[in-house]
Amino acid sequence: MDSPSGKLTRKNRIIVGCQWGDEGKGKVVDLLSRDADIVARFQGGNNAGHTVVVGGTKYALRLIPSGILHPGKICVIGNGVVLDPFVFMEELAMLKKSGIGTTDRLFVSAATNLVLPYHCAIDQGEEAERGNGGIGTTGRGIGPAYQDKVRRSGIRLADLFDDGRLKAKLDIHRRTKGRLLDGLPGAPKVDFDKLYTDLISLRDVLRPMMIDVSLMLEEAHKGGAVILFEGAQGGMLDVDLGTYPYCTSSNTTVGGALTGLGVGPNLVDEVVGVVKAYTTRVGAGPFPTELNDRTGEILRDRGGEYGTVTGRPRRTGWLDLVLLRHTCRISGVEKVAITKMDVLDDFAEIKVATGYELDGKVLDNVPVDIARLPDCRPIYRSFEGWKSSTVGITSYTELPQKAREFVGFICRELNVGMLLLSTGPARDQTVMV
Ligand code: IMP
Repeated sequence: MDSPSGKLTRKNRIIVGCQWGDEGKGKVVDLLSRDADIVARFQGGNNAGHTVVVGGTKYALRLIPSGILHPGKICVIGNGVVLDPFVFMEELAMLKKSGIGTTDRLFVSAATNLVLPYHCAIDQGEEAERGNGGIGTTGRGIGPAYQDKVRRSGIRLADLFDDGRLKAKLDIHRRTKGRLLDGLPGAPKVDFDKLYTDLISLRDVLRPMMIDVSLMLEEAHKGGAVILFEGAQGGMLDVDLGTYPYCTSSNTTVGGALTGLGVGPNLVDEVVGVVKAYTTRVGAGPFPTELNDRTGEILRDRGGEYGTVTGRPRRTGWLDLVLLRHTCRISGVEKVAITKMDVLDDFAEIKVATGYELDGKVLDNVPVDIARLPDCRPIYRSFEGWKSSTVGITSYTELPQKAREFVGFICRELNVGMLLLSTGPARDQTVMV
């Protein structure tokens, strides 16, 4: 099962974002899916979103791995994901309408926690309470659903099929969440009575999909299947090692792939980090290389930097090697996929932060206390722009010399190899290195 370029080998790969999400993982996962038999999503929920264009049709997927768009590929959603069953149903309906079958090739872990309407209401109500100090969450109930998971009160997929358990759990949430929501005037109302009926109406669709993902992946691996582990968001949004508290609620770095699917490191051949040629972030939180000027606007416009889930304009800035050293180290990134190179085509000068200055000292790495990130002043290295179009280039040697110097510098600084370089949104606008 070779890729069209013939240069990709059949390896079990973990794909992680190395910035604040929106690095272009969708395209990378889509490309690498062709070499895989199984695509497995391990964390996050429908706060993620990517649009994949296949045969001129646009598909917006938030929960279901984009591997589903490749005929015959198996897709799994692991226990590390928080799944909004109603959004999941919408995605299934959208795929069905497009003639894409999911029977016997889409599976969900029995241990996956569900995101329910009260989680979304709490997320939105608490964000309203925070006022100007908000995190800028996507409002999709992600944080409250993960809170229930670690609080050990979450409703998991398997609970849907046990009436007594489901009713008992919902009853507790009706009382505890009801009290919480009463104190959150900004939260939408939740109809708990309807929720039970709505949930059991999903049983027939969800029952055949429910499996032990850990066991399935191990058996598939033993049988020679190639697995692609699909991460959502980016390393700087990791709940433990990202820009806490301005982060998401899951482990977006490599450990999340193992716990989120119930597999060991023996199943992993390679970790691929996706790095956008500049930096963006949505929501609040520190961003040392942010450009609040015309250059930032140009990056936003040329890069089409608007959120796929919320439509919010993304904050933009230069590439930051300090952050990348941090996320690449945490995830053990061996190779990078550099995306959106072409967005930099017209810049006369391109900057890259190589270090920070903090309290009169130069740092190569993020400060020990990540809350000091807003006090860090980036130290830039400046590159002369290549000032010519790289759009659609597919061969490394055809890239302008200055563009090669730029990506070569990034890889050397990060001590990683380069897997691919993206020169446009389409599948074939890619340099396989
Ligand atoms: P939450 O994940 O909805 O709780 O949002 C927490 C923070 O993570 C907010 O700043 C969001 O904008 C950000 N975030 C969550 N998912 C994504 C994503 O897929 N891409 C970029 N940022 C994200």
